[in-house]
Amino acid sequence: MRALLASALVALVAASCDSGTEERPENAATRAVMRPSGTLPEGSVPRPFPGASTERPAVTPGLLARGAEAYAAFCTPCHGPAGRGDGPVVRRGFPAPLPFAKLDEAARSPNRIVDVIRHGHGRMRPMAEQVGNADSWAIAEHVSRLGNAP
Ligand code: HEC
Repeated sequence: MRALLASALVALVAASCDSGTEERPENAATRAVMRPSGTLPEGSVPRPFPGASTERPAVTPGLLARGAEAYAAFCTPCHGPAGRGDGPVVRRGFPAPLPFAKLDEAARSPNRIVDVIRHGHGRMRPMAEQVGNADSWAIAEHVSRLGNAP
């Protein structure tokens, strides 16, 4: 019984490994590659997302909740859950960002953070294509609060 279960498991795992690589062979080889700065193809321009707004939305509990959620999805891999620059990607060798609390006040303003999300900063690549406009503003409010935490 145990052997049967084990082989069923192996088959299951094997099946789930296959799917995806077959459909997207061109991605499979590059998925885990992280580029250090300066390796964007020459002449490439980060595209801002459609409808990008420079208007800071009103801060509501809903916006902050959305910001916390989107931050967890997009930013914790490097910046860590509390913004200390200790996410899992950093623990595996990616250059560590400063803790948000160590940034000066101007760098922690939501406008500036939205700009960093859109255009990148140093070794951080632009994320406009992954993070939409509304989420960027929500994340920025969350991050500026993380930065203010002791
Ligand atoms: C792949 C890792 C990675 C991810 C994901 C990432 N960052 Fe960064 N971030 C960095 C690194 C590295 C730096 C430091 C860049 C440098 O100084 O060269 C940085 C710097 C910053 C800074 C400081 C900029 C300054 O003024 O010094 C802010 C703010 C920031 N990131 C916000 C975000 C937000 C918000 C997200 C999620 C939407 C995010 N980052 C996702 C790696 C990442």
